[in-house]
Amino acid sequence: MAQWTVLGICGSLRQGSYNAELLRLAAELCPEVSIVGRQAAGRLPLFNPDIEDEEVIPEPAREFRSLADVSDGVIIASPEYAHGPSGVVKNAMDWLVGSGGLAGKPTLLMSASPGQAGGMRGHLPLIPTLTLMGAVPVDSVTVSGAPALVDDHGEFHDPAVRERMRLAMEAFSRALSYSRQKSENLRLVDSPTR
Ligand SMILES: Cc1cc2nc3c(=O)[nH]c(=O)nc-3n(C[C@H](O)[C@H](O)[C@H](O)COP(=O)(O)O)c2cc1C
Repeated sequence: MAQWTVLGICGSLRQGSYNAELLRLAAELCPEVSIVGRQAAGRLPLFNPDIEDEEVIPEPAREFRSLADVSDGVIIASPEYAHGPSGVVKNAMDWLVGSGGLAGKPTLLMSASPGQAGGMRGHLPLIPTLTLMGAVPVDSVTVSGAPALVDDHGEFHDPAVRERMRLAMEAFSRALSYSRQKSENLRLVDSPTR
């Protein structure tokens, strides 16, 4: 039974994407998490501050911001392109700077790649940006040699990948609980009836 709403940002638009598969696997391994908006980042227009005000913001961007607002946490699954994150992910993050949608949210980074580093270099530049936005990075999962680890349906069947993902989702779940507890405590402290 889902207990947490989590925004899924997929940095790949490719059919049969290994990173989209990581998001699917995250949901499979952690039924307490409902991952929303998996395709939303790919539908966003390019960020432009001229069109972010309430009166002019494009509908996909408004919806994306709303999804971030109602989410308890965020999972970013993105390929590494040329030793950096994908443009889809950076664009999605730019849309959330002004809305503050990542503030205080536990955030899990994932990437899969045919290469040896598993997309790790795509995560590194995201950390300072996430931190600036007030997000709380929890873990960083990388899967190298991805093509050999999926079955005929493109699903990760490799036991080591599944165990690594299970551990990451366990840590993410704990961070979501901690974050909720913290905001409830803050609400109590702020309450005028106290
Ligand atoms: C333009 C381009 C640049 C890439 N750069 C890297 C890279 O720097 N490191 C890496 O491990 N893989 C790189 N790749 C390979 C991607 O990791 C691979 O295509 C991966 O499957 C993409 O993720 P996806 O399956 O979710 O679409 C690159 C691929 C493309 C098309």
